[in-house]
Amino acid sequence: MRYSSLLRSDQTLFRDPEVFESTYTPEHLHHRDAQVRELAFLIRPALRGASPMNAILRGPPGTGKTTTVRRVFAEVAAETRRVVPVYVNCRQDHTLLAVYRCISRHLSGYAPPSRHLDDVREVIAARLRERDARLLVCLDDADYLIAAGTYNVLLYQLLRLYEGWSDLRGAGVFAVTSDLALNLYAEADGPVRSVFHPTEVNFWPYTKTEIRGILSDRVRQGLYPGVVPATVLDLVVEMTAGEQDVRVGIALLRQACLQAEGDSRRRVTRKDVMDVVAGVGSPALAARTTGLSSGERALLYRIAEQSLSGAEMMAGAVFEEVQDYLAVGKTTYHARLRRLADAGIIDLLHTGKGYEVFLRYAPDEVFAACARGGPGDQSPGCPRKG
Ligand SMILES: Nc1ncnc2c1ncn2[C@@H]1O[C@H](COP(=O)(O)OP(=O)(O)OP(=O)(O)O)[C@@H](O)[C@H]1O
Ligand SMILES: [Mg+2]
Repeated sequence: MRYSSLLRSDQTLFRDPEVFESTYTPEHLHHRDAQVRELAFLIRPALRGASPMNAILRGPPGTGKTTTVRRVFAEVAAETRRVVPVYVNCRQDHTLLAVYRCISRHLSGYAPPSRHLDDVREVIAARLRERDARLLVCLDDADYLIAAGTYNVLLYQLLRLYEGWSDLRGAGVFAVTSDLALNLYAEADGPVRSVFHPTEVNFWPYTKTEIRGILSDRVRQGLYPGVVPATVLDLVVEMTAGEQDVRVGIALLRQACLQAEGDSRRRVTRKDVMDVVAGVGSPALAARTTGLSSGERALLYRIAEQSLSGAEMMAGAVFEEVQDYLAVGKTTYHARLRRLADAGIIDLLHTGKGYEVFLRYAPDEVFAACARGGPGDQSPGCPRKG
């Protein structure tokens, strides 16, 4: 290799590569003022010593639910000590112990030494009492709690904290889902519903103009000027609007820039974008697999293999087949299957004999998407200290 090309390969188009990571918190939250105002309104009673009110946040993937909650929680934490907002990523933490440990870690700043549920709950109660604070918990991707069978007991205990400790107020709960077929209120049982009166906060898919605003902001922050010409951004906006998921646009921009950078070019072309789309198969699939954990991705890979080989695709038969490769029990298998269905990668259709697994994408596309990997298991959740 010549010296000059070696040097050129060091040049980057990215002013700040972090801007295209899934963990990045955007400087500006676009077009979610109404939702921010609604959430602030629900939190306000806690500033006067009452419990925060409850909410169900609904909207398809990539419509800014997580980003909005995190933004509001950060502001609350900066403004007052009377409310303790705790974000729980239920994809990661869906057992009672995991959720309570997450809350305890947040309140104390370190991992609770005990792994006994009662001890962890006692620590939470003590910290809330010390601070005379109200607890507000966001259960993001609450579907995982339903799959794990912990949704109702957790809601019951959080909303009725005063039943365990008469000097505490009930917590507020913001439950989040991207599964529009799921009614998180209907999933609550009678005892929960008697105290759970959530306001529904909807996150509609962004319009093309809104997507353009969000993506051009990313381009401005993350790339050097002139790297993405307007016509290229137009194409990415079109594709993103088609998929209704901002992540698709962010992924396309990042990969197209990496391709241009690899070719030592200073500008991205429409061809780069088209190449990347072809390379990753469906941009929606790329975006959907990015959020999967390594275990979920491994299962998806095996399902694609099964589907390609023409094998029987009943959920039970698939479980028998994958057991040799993935050392997981039935509960974990079903939770992962549910997750793949929630992510819109497979469909689970109920037949007379049980659930049949349908892959929404061609197996080759799935192999390519799985091979590209993603941050999956490192998705933002509780800080893993201790
Ligand atoms: N209004 C916005 N302004 C800036 N960036 C946004 C906005 N909405 C979404 N994004 C970006 O789009 C990506 C997806 O957003 P987010 O994770 O909040 O979506 P979500 O609705 O929680 O999706 P899912 O249901 O799949 O969890 C993130 O990278 C986020 O930074
Ligand atoms: Mg989310």
